[in-house]
Order: sequence, then structure tokens, then C-alpha cells
Amino acid sequence: MGLRQYSLINDPFQEKSEFTIAVKNVGTKEGGSAFLHHHVHTGDVIEASGPENFFPVRTEARHHLLLAAGIGITPFLSMMAFLKGMNQPFELHYSGSSEHECAFYSTIKENYPDESTFYFMKREQKERELKKVLEDQPVGTHIYICGPSSFMDTYLSYCKNLGYPDENLHSERFRPAKITQKPYPFSVTEKNTGKTVQVQSNQSLLEALREEGIPVPYACRMGVCGTCEVNVCNGEVIHHDTFLTEDERKEKMLTCVSRGKGHLSVRV
Ligand code: FES
Repeated sequence: MGLRQYSLINDPFQEKSEFTIAVKNVGTKEGGSAFLHHHVHTGDVIEASGPENFFPVRTEARHHLLLAAGIGITPFLSMMAFLKGMNQPFELHYSGSSEHECAFYSTIKENYPDESTFYFMKREQKERELKKVLEDQPVGTHIYICGPSSFMDTYLSYCKNLGYPDENLHSERFRPAKITQKPYPFSVTEKNTGKTVQVQSNQSLLEALREEGIPVPYACRMGVCGTCEVNVCNGEVIHHDTFLTEDERKEKMLTCVSRGKGHLSVRV
């Protein structure tokens, strides 16, 4: 199994000596979830790197609105424990086809009876209700969204239409955005070193820069964490990440997934 990332679901105020994850078996043959469900047993040792937080709670928020669908609930379990422990106002809206399909349904009901609402109705009705919730939030609310791509795209774009600032919108994807364009080679000059590197069609800019000895840091390699960001000085970028805001894209790019057209100049 290759590199996989999972949300820690621990209560951050407890269990400091262990990491807890929850993994839904989505059943794809090559997937990490099937591997964990069928081949990993109690007592096995799995190599893991230290935790990183790409989806943090924004403590400057006046109110926190968490929108989850399906197994997208996992990052919210520790966030809710943190918010409750810090006495910060929050509400969870959790969609699933049934109670059974909502992981941690009973735990959430028991621990957050006043903060949680569940949606088991048909898609159209659910959309109407959730959109109304988004329309009725106080100024200073931060929105956090996690679930399948279509769910996230629907509510992120609805929030943008309602005028929520980019910096108040936070999302975490299970997997990178789907890239449908064919990758073409391009070249890049890194301004600090003066080196020019060729990026082949089967290679990322991150790989090309690191092979050239230019130490760009990285973590997710999926365009979701922002660690591999560089400043763009010149040239046209094809952005494939799901992390940068439209404003940030005017001067930055994420080297693990985004590409250039022709020639780019960047500064690490
Ligand atoms: S390494 Fe995470 S966005 Fe590139």
C-alpha cells in the first residue's frame, strides 16, 4: 500500500499517547481502505509519519459551521471535541442516506445533542435545507466542509455565491481534484538559484525541482495541503490544486500538482 492520509479522530484533550483513525471500506481493489480492512490485523506494525493539520479550526471565527457527508465526518470528531472544550459556538450538519450510513451517529447524538442536525431526506430537500442554514449565519462564521467531491463543490460554490469570503471557507478532500487535461512538458527557472529545469509530462514540478537539488518541502502530494507552494514570478500556470484561493493563485502555485504552459519563473 502506498502513502495514505487519514483524519485523527481523537479528542485532543484526551488520549495524548495514541492516534485513532476511522476508515470506511470503500471497496476499491487497490484502495488503502480495503487493504486496512482485509490485510491489517491487531498487533501489526504500520509505519506512520507524525500528524499534520491541513484542516485546522480557525480560532478567530465568531461561529463555526461544520458540514459533513458520509465518512467526511471524521475530521469533525476531533474538531467538535476541541470546540466544545474551548467553549466556542459551533453547529454540525451531517448528511447520510440513513442513521446506519452516518458513522458515529450515536456518539454524536449523545455528545452534541444541541449542536448536531442530521439529514436523511432526499437530495433536493436536503439541499434546500442546507442552503437555508448557510443563508442564516451570523457575520464572522467560518464554514468547514468535508465529504464527497460533489457535496463539497455544491456547498462551496453556494457559499461563494452568498458572499462568504474565501478565508472563511475551509474544506478537506479525501482525494485530489480529478485532472482531466493531458500533462505537457514545460520548463521552469527558479529565481534564487538561477537554475532552469525541464518538467517532463510524466513528472511533477515538485519532483523536477527536487531532482535538481532545489529543496521544496512537501507533505500530501495531492494539492490539498499547501506545503509545496512557490511564488510565481512569470508565466502561465495551470492550477490543479484544491487549496489556494483565487487571489492566491495570482501569485502562487502548488508544485506537486499544478503545471506551467511553456516557460515559468518561480521563487522557492
Ligand atoms: S504537497 Fe501538499 S499541496 Fe503539494
